Amino acid sequence: MKRIAIFASGSGSNAEKICEYFSGRQDVEVSLILTNNPQAGVITRARKLHIPVVIFDRKTFYESERILQLLQNDKVDLIVLAGFMMLIPEFLVKGFPGKMVNIHPALLPKYGGKGMYGHFVHEAVVEANDTESGITIHFVNEHYDEGNIIFQATCEVTETDSADDVARKVQVLEHQYYPAIIDEIISKSAF
Ligand code: GRF
Repeated sequence: MKRIAIFASGSGSNAEKICEYFSGRQDVEVSLILTNNPQAGVITRARKLHIPVVIFDRKTFYESERILQLLQNDKVDLIVLAGFMMLIPEFLVKGFPGKMVNIHPALLPKYGGKGMYGHFVHEAVVEANDTESGITIHFVNEHYDEGNIIFQATCEVTETDSADDVARKVQVLEHQYYPAIIDEIISKSAF
């Protein structure tokens, strides 16, 4: 059984889709959901899905190796970031080389980097009069949104689209593709 750990800081709709996708599978499971936000919607979703949740604080995440140890003890094979708002410390990236992925709600390298998340991304796309946006699934390194790109999908942005409209279109793509791409990564890799 391959084990996935999901990190999320917010609502957790992507985390839920991933859990649903793998539920009932004999070869892959979501074994753990981790969050830095005690108010995060993902906690309620995880409890409903009977998946263990770990809530940690900033100090534990950056100043100790407790999360790394926990993931190793849980024999996690792949770390999936789904709306996780903290930069991953170097020791954690190094602990899971090529085994950590993220989804970004735009077509990287456009609209990435520190401060480019959620609504800020979609507002920037509308502001620039872009005619398309989309999702990027990529490996994680020590910098925000800079790891190698694994997959992108696009959606049309029309002249009348607001940032909320773009957010909705992008979310459809996220839910449609993230679980399946994770499945592909796991089945293609040697771990
Ligand atoms: C998604 O748009 C994802 O691309 C971004 O954060 C959002 C998380 O949404 N990194 P949710 O918490 O999964 O609903």
